[in-house]
Amino acid sequence: MNAMTNFLKPEIQNSNRFCEIHKERMILVAGRDFCKTCAIKAVEKAQSEHMVSVNTSVREKHFAGALLPVRHAESGFKNYNVTHEGQRDAKAACHAYAKDFNNPEIKQKRNLIMYGRTGTGKTHLACAVARNVLDQRSYVRYVTSEDMANEIANAWTKADDSEASAVWRFTDYDLLIIDEYGLHDQHESRLQLVHKVLYSRYDAKKPTVLSSNWTKEQLKDNLGDRLWSRFQHDGLTIVECNWADARAGEG
Ligand SMILES: Nc1ncnc2c1ncn2[C@@H]1O[C@H](COP(=O)(O)OP(=O)(O)OP(=O)(O)O)[C@@H](O)[C@H]1O
Ligand SMILES: [Mg+2]
Ligand SMILES: [Zn+2]
Repeated sequence: MNAMTNFLKPEIQNSNRFCEIHKERMILVAGRDFCKTCAIKAVEKAQSEHMVSVNTSVREKHFAGALLPVRHAESGFKNYNVTHEGQRDAKAACHAYAKDFNNPEIKQKRNLIMYGRTGTGKTHLACAVARNVLDQRSYVRYVTSEDMANEIANAWTKADDSEASAVWRFTDYDLLIIDEYGLHDQHESRLQLVHKVLYSRYDAKKPTVLSSNWTKEQLKDNLGDRLWSRFQHDGLTIVECNWADARAGEG
């Protein structure tokens, strides 16, 4: 019995060596010298490396869940160039929008509409907003208007889905970014599906970012008085992007 206990609890003896780093007497365990402080530090280092890797993987999954476009994997405020007033104002408005979104004292979050010509950085800025909001652990989803309408329209074809569940999924995100609004099948029923999400988010007091190539008048017209009024109710930031196309290198 005694031999068994001794085996399970090996006797710890003082060694006659000293740790060169900590200048403390080492201990002798199973014939080897150890410094207690070195051993504790090694365990702490391993634990903190493990936590960093867990946090990194949680953060990566959280960002991946937003489904930001691969092309805009690096699009942020830092690499949004400002060469004229329009860009400066657009960047400042989006930056303020993200900052207010992340401010816990501001309970009711605003909506954001970005409209203007192709290639003026709307998706870039929308992704910059998304990134800043994701950084604070809010749930964000990026989707094009077309993909969202298709997903809702096709929900009934899947055994475990329905139109109502699909609308609810898009309502549940803290922030939904609907890009390329209107750039798809403009059949009444498809647009109505997008409108359903907008109504549902309004009812749930959830903010939405809407980006489009349409003019403000076209958007107002298409959304109709009821949605336009709802969009403004909780506060609305409007950003107009009408300058040269960055893709064509005109800007
Ligand atoms: N001010 C800017 N600074 C840095 N890069 C920019 C800027 N504006 C646009 N870009 C880059 O130009 C490309 C086109 O921009 P983006 O896709 O955001 O345009 P868009 O307004 O969404 O166009 P569309 O209406 O066709 O969708 C992207 O690669 C984007 O990162
Ligand atoms: Mg775009
Ligand atoms: Zn030591």
